[in-house]
Amino acid sequence: MPNLLIAIESSCDDSCISVVSSKFEIIYEKSISQIDLHKAYGGVFPELASRSHLEYLQIILADLRNYVDILDVKAVAATYAPGLIGGLLVGCGIAKGICHMYDKKIIPVHHLEGHLESVNIEKEKHVDYPNLTLLVSGGHCQFILAKSFGNYEVLGKTLDDSVGEAFDKIGKMLGFEYPGGPKIEEFAKNGNDYIEIGKPMIDNGLNFSFSGFKTSVMRFLEKHKEDINPDFIASVCKNAQDRISENLVYKSTLAIEYVQKMGIDLQNFVLCGGVAANKTIIANIQSLCNEKNIRLYHPQLKYATDNATMIAFAGVKRMNLDLFGDLAFSPVSRIPISEVNIR
Ligand code: KG4
Ligand code: ZN
Repeated sequence: MPNLLIAIESSCDDSCISVVSSKFEIIYEKSISQIDLHKAYGGVFPELASRSHLEYLQIILADLRNYVDILDVKAVAATYAPGLIGGLLVGCGIAKGICHMYDKKIIPVHHLEGHLESVNIEKEKHVDYPNLTLLVSGGHCQFILAKSFGNYEVLGKTLDDSVGEAFDKIGKMLGFEYPGGPKIEEFAKNGNDYIEIGKPMIDNGLNFSFSGFKTSVMRFLEKHKEDINPDFIASVCKNAQDRISENLVYKSTLAIEYVQKMGIDLQNFVLCGGVAANKTIIANIQSLCNEKNIRLYHPQLKYATDNATMIAFAGVKRMNLDLFGDLAFSPVSRIPISEVNIR
């Protein structure tokens, strides 16, 4: 009986394919990052991303054929939303081609469901339900309550920039190459506490806003043009990272209390998305979870940022439930995760 799933991720600037079995064994995984191509543009250049996905995914597929027999494959999953539409069209087009050619089932996967599953990769025990997720990536910042697999409710989200975007834009102001998040974390290690920039928005309940904070960093840097030296830059990084982290902890406290007031016995908290690679943020959310007696799950570093193994994990869960898609589906650039709820 064929029991493997091929998964394709191409929603942003990583071209990735993984193969995972129905028992969640990783058979194959490969990613080609496009970061170097986009650096010159200070962010992801969509047209270039689509063209590069078309090229890189072919390279990975050719390699994959040395390791995987198509006869063992039951289904093909692909990120169908949300993301840059050109990249999604390329990934889904390739997935559909394989399905047509070899008579396989298709599984469209929501990118955020993939991030939610990233905490289960290479773990003996998968996170239990119900669980509350803080998803912090380059494209998203939201609280998702999962009552069971495929039963999601978005409790709050950013009103403007995502956390990753805030890190990237602040990084750009400091002269760092894209993506700014990892550089800010690195520089923050040598920073001091002598500067005060401001704080991200604390109003609006479970919703976030980082655009005002980004502007206050910009104004602060303009005002202190004369002070720019390595120690100053490191301290701006530390300050920005600490204020963002505090905001995430504050909002997470509200979200946990909100869920508990709904009468849900919340025991599991998930921190995922590219920003979940940040050690300060992990440590601070861990302290909050300890205080609240809740178990924290976060992905291993390698699976925090975009990868196809997380898409495969979501895909395998759907495959094991016989939840297949129609080959006529179309990718979409924006759609809430609650749209993929299993009804
Ligand atoms: O999940 P991801 O790979 O792509 C999206 O789905 O958006 O997230 C990428 C984001 C970028 O904004 C990047 O700056 C941020 O994650 N990021 C970090 C760190 N590593 C990646 N932000 C803060 N600290 C990090 N260590
Ligand atoms: Zn992502």
